[in-house]
Amino acid sequence: MATRDLVIRPVRPTDRDRVAELTRDVWNGHDYINSVFDDWVADAASAFQAVEVDGQVVGVQRLRPFAPGLVWYEGLRVATSHRRQGLARAMLTSAIAEAREQGHGEMRLATGNPDAVRLFESVGFQRLLDIRWWRGPRVEGGESARIPAAAEAEKLWPVIAKSPGIELYHGVMADFNGARDLGPALLARLAETGMLRAGPGGRAVAGLRRPWGDNLAVGFLAGAGGALRELLLALRFEADADGLDDVVVSLPRDHPAADDMRASGYDFANDDDHSYIYALTL
Ligand SMILES: CC(C)(COP(=O)(O)OP(=O)(O)OC[C@H]1O[C@@H](n2cnc3c(N)ncnc32)[C@H](O)[C@@H]1OP(=O)(O)O)[C@@H](O)C(=O)NCCC(=O)NCCS
Repeated sequence: MATRDLVIRPVRPTDRDRVAELTRDVWNGHDYINSVFDDWVADAASAFQAVEVDGQVVGVQRLRPFAPGLVWYEGLRVATSHRRQGLARAMLTSAIAEAREQGHGEMRLATGNPDAVRLFESVGFQRLLDIRWWRGPRVEGGESARIPAAAEAEKLWPVIAKSPGIELYHGVMADFNGARDLGPALLARLAETGMLRAGPGGRAVAGLRRPWGDNLAVGFLAGAGGALRELLLALRFEADADGLDDVVVSLPRDHPAADDMRASGYDFANDDDHSYIYALTL
């Protein structure tokens, strides 16, 4: 590849059709980039970028500041016609340099693509989370879990910090839209936005994340035994009350809640695919 012909520039509204074209064969035609394209182009707080080779857009990426000091890297795509020419590496290297210049402390991302994993690990990203998905179908007839107030939420942290398996989260929530640091501040934030659920006596807690489909999506889980099982069941009741299909829980691999999940009607949903969250200190 003649690097002199490579240009990285902001995506423009007029790139819409070309971006749709180059993402057509990603994930069997189910790439989400097209549905977020207009929002991403309009979002001045983030950098949605295109890479051009010889005047043609052949790849995209996005850098999005999502918490103090943290920037989320997403939407990396290279056209099938231009793969294995070092383009993704060039784009990522440029994104890292830009994030450093802007003074961010850490870049985080989520990926399920083993090719992308090789790329990210080769530039120094560390794997924070190895996620397995569990699914619990909606069920009728019970009460949804309690949403604690923000002031109460922060006080739940000491219990969560001692919860079995919490260390497997490596300090971040399994949120594929931006993995924030786990801690009392996150609990308060989740409570304020209606995204925290507590089981009996605050002995089990679930942090919700924005879902991709018609489900209630859990990005972290704390607690064990009866309190956790009660909470897991209450989430299935809530899915039913909200007209959602099911509850999806992103749990770190080998998390000790697996038995409680099964006992509460949840199935292990992704035996063969992978989902990881990575971080790079800038
Ligand atoms: C993943 C993707 C962005 C790579 O783009 P690319 O321009 O072909 O990547 P590069 O040529 O810069 O390769 C960079 C590194 O990625 C890894 N890699 C990329 N494609 C690979 C493949 N087919 N097999 C094995 N490793 C691969 C290699 O480590 C490679 O380094 P190397 O060439 O020194 O061995 C591209 O395949 C793509 O758009 N895939 C579909 C969308 C997607 O999954 N994006 C990532 C979501 S986070």
